[in-house]
Amino acid sequence: MEHPYLLPLTVVLLGFLSQSFTKLTPRVSFPTGIPGRPLTRFSGHDVSNTTTLLLSENGDMLYVGSRNAVLALDVSHKDTIVLRSKLDWSPSEKDIEQCSMKGKKMADCPNFIRVLQFLNTTHIYACGTFAFSPRCTYINSETLTMSLKADEGRGRCPYDPYQRNTAIIVDGELYTGTVADYRGNRPVISRHLGEGRRLDLKLDDTLGWLEEPTFISSSFIPDEEKIYLFFSEVGREYDFIDKFIVSRVAQICMSDVGGQRTLQRRWTTFAKAQLLCQVDSELPYNVIQDIDTLPPAEGAPADDTLFYGLFTSQWSVNSGRSAVCSFRLTDIKSVFSGNYKVLNRDTLQWSTRVQEKIANPGECGLHNASDNALRFVKENFLADESVRPVGRRLTLLSSEHDYSHLTVQRVQAANSRDYTVLFLLTESGYLHKAVLLQSGAHIIEEVQVFEQPQLVKSLKLSIPTGMIYIGTSEGVVRVPTANCSFYWTCPQCVLARDPFCGWDPVSRACVEASKTRTGLCQDIDRGNVKEACNTVSMTHRDRFGPNKLPAGSDAAFQTHQLKVIHIFL
Ligand SMILES: *[C@@H]1O[C@H](CO)[C@@H](O)[C@H](O)[C@H]1NC(C)=O
Ligand SMILES: *[C@@H]1O[C@H](CO)[C@@H](O)[C@H](O)[C@H]1NC(C)=O
Ligand SMILES: *[C@@H]1O[C@H](CO)[C@@H](O)[C@H](O)[C@H]1NC(C)=O
Ligand SMILES: *[C@@H]1O[C@H](CO)[C@@H](O)[C@H](O)[C@H]1NC(C)=O
Repeated sequence: MEHPYLLPLTVVLLGFLSQSFTKLTPRVSFPTGIPGRPLTRFSGHDVSNTTTLLLSENGDMLYVGSRNAVLALDVSHKDTIVLRSKLDWSPSEKDIEQCSMKGKKMADCPNFIRVLQFLNTTHIYACGTFAFSPRCTYINSETLTMSLKADEGRGRCPYDPYQRNTAIIVDGELYTGTVADYRGNRPVISRHLGEGRRLDLKLDDTLGWLEEPTFISSSFIPDEEKIYLFFSEVGREYDFIDKFIVSRVAQICMSDVGGQRTLQRRWTTFAKAQLLCQVDSELPYNVIQDIDTLPPAEGAPADDTLFYGLFTSQWSVNSGRSAVCSFRLTDIKSVFSGNYKVLNRDTLQWSTRVQEKIANPGECGLHNASDNALRFVKENFLADESVRPVGRRLTLLSSEHDYSHLTVQRVQAANSRDYTVLFLLTESGYLHKAVLLQSGAHIIEEVQVFEQPQLVKSLKLSIPTGMIYIGTSEGVVRVPTANCSFYWTCPQCVLARDPFCGWDPVSRACVEASKTRTGLCQDIDRGNVKEACNTVSMTHRDRFGPNKLPAGSDAAFQTHQLKVIHIFL
């Protein structure tokens, strides 16, 4: 039962099937402990509830925000992760007493670190929930010591450790999306740390600019001098009996300093729009879970920046499914420069009535604008159009896997073409590596990261070092983005269709494509072994041994795919 050459045919055939027919089965599965994909774990040292991860630029240090502590981990060693230093940052007994007197569970009263960002070359800015009384501090990144200067955390960090937030520091200023009160019902997007250079700003909260949001992420786009924030919230523009959740992208300009009379100390550049992860008339995948930014390829304009978002659905017909959609910056910009919906203040109904444009909502540099213009942007903040995904289709739809986190990377293959690779974490503890092809997504492999499902709050990719870090309730796990040497033969190497890996006929080894550019055998799009390996003579042993593929191996994969062919031929 050997059909090594039938595979390219099956791949081509599968390309004709509609998206919902494609089963996203990883080609190779690595259970924990298997030598092909060894993991490096860091746990113990009283580390729990890892919530935030921050990588140094060269990828040698990993800063970890966890329960009552910030850690500096030396991740520059191949086989181990070494604790460099640890900063304890716990509430006092009195703080905890007060927290529990307010009726909070003891387990929720520690300090959960929720903001961890580089402030400048010497300091990190950190904020934690601190017994439901959030605080922020400055930490020396070299010595991991806290400076005496401390800030109140209100508006920068949630009170409640179960509430999600987002934070990003750009040019020494902190932009955050969080709830700003103890009861958790005053959401705000704000800017801090102007340090006298300029005023802190926040959202005007009289008009419902945000509706019970769950903040997911924020991204700084240098060319635009804008911050984009991603979240889900209740879509009040829809007349639904149930609360209808919508996913959003919002924007603010870094140059914003608020208005002079109208919108004093408030954003004049805030605008939001719906992000639609939906095909035609099907139910949308409306709840954003995670999103990552893919900067444009070298030499391409900033407008080609892509955002890869992971979505689930609010409706039970789609429960257990997840979808990935990608959005192009240029599409987001064109939605923000279009028309805006209008809220009737008496009926609280939104309409799309086209009105005379007194100002352009979302435009940067409105600080000297007239009161009239500022009143207009204050009321017109919800873009009329929705942002549609690239190609008006889902990038990936999985009915078997409940993905919770994703990260994305562009990888140059041996043929110099760029491929997009997604790393997706499943709720059940597997990391999937998928390459996006014309014919759909191909899941190269899955690596089991945990045996028991774990609460994951953070997934970080270090492109310079080729490592992925996963922060869990028990510590940190490191997974290399690829292990090409696991593939023993040219056919195995080519069939993997992994843009990271190519077969080097000289050294007769499957090697990292980025390290050996020339003369590699690789065929990401078709996995055509016959063509790609034609210079290499193949023996039976070359094809199949001695490395036995684990579960989901070639043979199983091919039989599975062959069955599909019989049905559709
Ligand atoms: C890669 O796989 C090989 C073969 O299974 C194994 O011996 C090696 O330790 C792995 N290397 C890494 C860095 O994962
Ligand atoms: C902290 O971790 C524990 C154990 O995994 C978990 O039960 C708890 O919900 C976590 N707390 C928060 C605030 O995430
Ligand atoms: C970084 O910020 C901290 C805190 O404001 C300050 O003490 C330090 O001098 C700054 N470092 C540099 C290099 O600007
Ligand atoms: C706005 O007005 C202030 C004075 O009111 C002035 O200093 C500033 O240059 C003006 N800014 C712009 C962009 O016109």
